[in-house]
Amino acid sequence: MSHTPAIGIHDLSLATTEFVLPHATLAAHNGTDVGKYHVGIGQRSMSVAAADEDIVTLAATAAAPIIARHGSDRIRTVVFATESSIDQAKSAGVYVHSLLGLPSASRVVELKQACYGATAGLQFAIGLVRRDPTQRVLVIASDVSKYELDSPGEATQGAAAVALLVSADPALVTIEDPSGVFTADVMDFWRPNYRDAALVDGHESITAYLQAVEGCWKDYTEQGGRELEDFAAFCYHQPFTKMAYKAHRHLLNYTGHATDEDQARKGLEQTTAYNNVIGNSYTASVYLALASLLENADDLTGRAIAFLSYGSGSVAELFAGTVTPGYRDHLRTDAHQHAVKRRTELDYAAYRELHQRSLPTDGSDHPIPEQTGGPFRLAALRGHKRIYEAR
Ligand code: CAA
Repeated sequence: MSHTPAIGIHDLSLATTEFVLPHATLAAHNGTDVGKYHVGIGQRSMSVAAADEDIVTLAATAAAPIIARHGSDRIRTVVFATESSIDQAKSAGVYVHSLLGLPSASRVVELKQACYGATAGLQFAIGLVRRDPTQRVLVIASDVSKYELDSPGEATQGAAAVALLVSADPALVTIEDPSGVFTADVMDFWRPNYRDAALVDGHESITAYLQAVEGCWKDYTEQGGRELEDFAAFCYHQPFTKMAYKAHRHLLNYTGHATDEDQARKGLEQTTAYNNVIGNSYTASVYLALASLLENADDLTGRAIAFLSYGSGSVAELFAGTVTPGYRDHLRTDAHQHAVKRRTELDYAAYRELHQRSLPTDGSDHPIPEQTGGPFRLAALRGHKRIYEAR
């Protein structure tokens, strides 16, 4: 019988936007007690895309360091996960493929199921690598989260991309079987094709997320998964960081464990560093939690981590990963912290103006102002085509 190698995340690189809006600024504008944001939802600030940034520029920025470190020879598949798609037909991944100069002998596809898409991408990638362990798959999660101005959702916006290189003998985390999966047809959050901003039933979405946590755990257990006690940490999808605590407390309660503050914090607090200051990055969020955990926790070598990926609508998956010996030598902590710290703070008026911008739909020639200091930009819209530039 052939030996099945360990397969999982070999490298992880994140990118975020040029601008940031502190929640204190939003609170000063709308008269909300800032404690509601800082404590109530657990958010300090949110990333705001520049006029010339979008899911493609963020994705290319996240993935470029992975290609620089590992080359692209063994990458035959690129999976682009997003729920803020820019085209109904063409995969945003094809633009990234071009910007990064990836080999033409590759397949590229875009996946969608709200914030769950990247996890579907990761699982598909594992299947491909299992079939041919010499191949690697680039999975990119990239999203710009946008709700209506002056709506309750406004405080839970954000934007980021995470690129994952999936391979055999991964340097960071081996992804285990089984998974616990859950699907329910609910209208908690959605974005019809004709809208820029998402529609959401906020409180219904929290309930739907908690139901999905239960459903996933039930299936995970039935599939022969680990005991809750085995896990050193829990990476949850974090639309706002307080949601991870709500979800974890729910899981502890559902599995008959103590739900006090200490228990809820254990294995969670080191997962929230990026999401707390970046905001909701939809599909990227659970993998930002992983980056935060690996970079901030004491040595996790050999330890099991639980992942809970939730996408409204809704589909969710719970699975485990084990941390590879020597993982710390492969982290990108300095670059990631720089990406967060280099953002320029916006005042409320500048944020509002960016939020209200929309691209013309008449096919005219439309140059886009140069705002981003990042390596890739959306330079223009011309004849209904997006024109990207690498610097
Ligand atoms: N100091 C401290 N805490 C305060 C406070 C203050 N001054 N004022 C209020 N709070 C607390 C509240 O008690 C509440 O805490 P609990 O949830 O623990 O009870 C918290 O702050 C939020 O207050 P509200 O519920 O009154 O806030 P809201 O009605 O404005 O809505 C929200 C909050 C529902 C998250 C809203 O921002 C929203 O709709 N966001 C978008 C949807 C979303 O993120 N849903 C998450 C699950 S769905 C998902 O995960 C997929 C996805 O990415 C979208």
